[in-house]
Amino acid sequence: LSRLTYTFDGNGSHSNSEKYADVNWDELGFSLIETDFMYVMKCSIGESFESGSIAPFGNLELSPCCTLLNYGQGLFEGLKAYRKEDGKVQLFRPEQNALRMQTGAERLCMPSPSVEQFLHAVKQTVIANKRWVPPPGRGSMYIRPLLMGMGPALGLGPSPNYMFLVFASPVGDYYDKGGKSMNLLVEDKHRRASPGGTGSIKTMANYSPVLNAQARAKAQGFSDVLFLDAATGKYIEEVSACNIFIVKDKVISTPETAGTILPGITRKSIIQLALMLGYKVEERLIPVEELLDADEVFCTGTAVVVTPVSSVTHQGRRVEYKQSQGETTVNKKLCKTLTGIQMGRIDDKMGWMV
Ligand code: COI
Repeated sequence: LSRLTYTFDGNGSHSNSEKYADVNWDELGFSLIETDFMYVMKCSIGESFESGSIAPFGNLELSPCCTLLNYGQGLFEGLKAYRKEDGKVQLFRPEQNALRMQTGAERLCMPSPSVEQFLHAVKQTVIANKRWVPPPGRGSMYIRPLLMGMGPALGLGPSPNYMFLVFASPVGDYYDKGGKSMNLLVEDKHRRASPGGTGSIKTMANYSPVLNAQARAKAQGFSDVLFLDAATGKYIEEVSACNIFIVKDKVISTPETAGTILPGITRKSIIQLALMLGYKVEERLIPVEELLDADEVFCTGTAVVVTPVSSVTHQGRRVEYKQSQGETTVNKKLCKTLTGIQMGRIDDKMGWMV
């Protein structure tokens, strides 16, 4: 791929034009819409990434014995690009994703792109696909950087070579068609992460072990599952694809990131915004009983943004939480501020947008 060059201007000089014409910008959900281009950069073990290039979006060729497929030597990231009213496109805190990928790469013995390389790749991907960034107010472009061991290792060991790839898709709401809140089931049987494990990095291997619990919950009509800590099963940790917050008497609390929880960029941003807005915020152990006694519960993540939780069910007991009429809840206020900055409606005093 890296030997080929393509002309691209973000206006669809390459393929996918029929698919583009078919997109209903008012009905975007969270499923892949193939865009025109992706970014690819390769390197061998012991070397660092040097330069990559844009290529048509398409399938990869890889060894059946590669470490990605055999041993899960892979990381992913997720970030978004937003189209503002003036037509310009901006990214939310992309350097944070670059840094998190570096932390994960070290844990999985992989070389990682520099922050500059990561930002360059993301920007090139967005520019090449810019016609796919939804109009303001109708969604965003979800960007998925991947870091993968592409070479063979039959005995357990790191791959001899690696690929960093970035692709993108226009998206709308994560939960089904305008899903405005989540009904969570507290998972009693499976645990997501354990102390000393990889719960705090975005390894692909953290996500498929969630699917069984998620499928059982969905079959009972729940939106998703909330995992408890592996050591005691007493404290709340993380929902399958997002972080969780509770609000009690105007104090906002979220599980501390002590190695078993993904340090979400939306999580961190919501904490910063809440402090700026004058709320007290605590990062600490949160027993399930406190969750059940909360005034409000909400989830945060790049994909879910800020989504209120309408109910939690634990060992057969279902608790319902108040939902916002207008902007009466803490989570609605925080969501409005965050999305206002992301969409360029609110002054970006923090310097988050790129
Ligand atoms: C994200 O919010 O970007 C994530 O990575 C969650 C993913 C499982 C959809």
